[in-house]
Amino acid sequence: MYLTKREERILEGEEGEGKRLAMELLVAIGEAFEAERLIPITRAHVATSAQEGDTYWAERLAKGGARCAVRTTTNPPWDYDFFSRIAELTEYEISLLHRTVDAYRRLGAVLSFSCTPYVLDNVPSFGEHVAFSESSAPPYVNSVLGARTNREGSPSALASAVIGKTPYYGLHIDENRRANVVVKVEASMEGPFSYGLLGIHVGEIVGSGIPYFRGLPRNPSKEELVYLGAELATSGSVAMYHIEGVTPEAALMEEPVESGAEVIEVGEEDLRDTLERWSESGGRISSVILGCPHYTYEQLVEVARILGGRRIHPDVDLYILTSRHALEMARRSGVLDVIERAGGRVVADTCIDQPVFRKYEGTLGCTDSFKNAYYRTRRGQKFVIMDVKSCIEAAIRGEVR
Ligand code: F3S
Repeated sequence: MYLTKREERILEGEEGEGKRLAMELLVAIGEAFEAERLIPITRAHVATSAQEGDTYWAERLAKGGARCAVRTTTNPPWDYDFFSRIAELTEYEISLLHRTVDAYRRLGAVLSFSCTPYVLDNVPSFGEHVAFSESSAPPYVNSVLGARTNREGSPSALASAVIGKTPYYGLHIDENRRANVVVKVEASMEGPFSYGLLGIHVGEIVGSGIPYFRGLPRNPSKEELVYLGAELATSGSVAMYHIEGVTPEAALMEEPVESGAEVIEVGEEDLRDTLERWSESGGRISSVILGCPHYTYEQLVEVARILGGRRIHPDVDLYILTSRHALEMARRSGVLDVIERAGGRVVADTCIDQPVFRKYEGTLGCTDSFKNAYYRTRRGQKFVIMDVKSCIEAAIRGEVR
């Protein structure tokens, strides 16, 4: 891979050990993917997951004097102020959280702790080259915003943030952004849950492909598109999709069928079968966990509306994960009060895949997110997966019938 004189000097350590390590990783990735050079990025998002490998890398870069060269937001770990009072946590888990936050602070990252920066406070424009980790981010950034990122891991996104550059390969290049499978949707779509179900179904079929959706409504909400992308990237590793008449690059593409793309059809029955495979069928529940990816303010309003003054069952804990911004808007607007009076908890800065939810392992929960079920099932908690209204009704009854 071609390096400029300055990039070579960074690789030789002339600008410090932290930048040398970051450059070494970018060069290794670039050579693996046969990138011809590095290109500048304008912003980044890194997954601050409070897990040892991620934190080790961040600490090494920080200790080597590295700083983020571009605006870099961060994914959620867990909220110490909220959970240290109510969750059983080990000394090690608490210290890992503090080490993670400290390392990213020293690196000069924006400690935003949200997994939906792309609808919030780190929104690239059409054509911008960026480096975003967090699996739900590349599908939204590439497909809905028309900016360009590969499906970065936390280490590579952080390396790009420090150098301000990324290897020029994959979705940064025009010809790699074309669809290679057409998905004809014959099922009715309404609400984030149905888009999420479509995403899980199609992700399993296309793997790392780029689907081109036909037959979807022309005016999806941002929440529906967030769920579609998050679930395409859960059962598959989709980093980009097109929706006919909706996403900006769909109209720029040549007819995908004529360019040899495979065609698949998705009907109501296909989605029902997929849901049956992913979801538990029912029973008494211990928890309802919503907000993976983080709920928007509008979704918090929707929860308050569904609750309608009713209280949730005393044996059930209702958690809704969201951004600090949406939580504060909900507080000011009285929405938080409605949810808390019902017995629900709205929490910022927190990911579902953290030890703070340990007490629910071995029990049955409810969620509207396949991604939530996927990660938490690996920690021993099973889920009935259904739309938000059904989740709230189950929280009130204490069971899924
Ligand atoms: Fe967000 Fe964690 Fe889900 S980062 S998307 S709550 S797995």
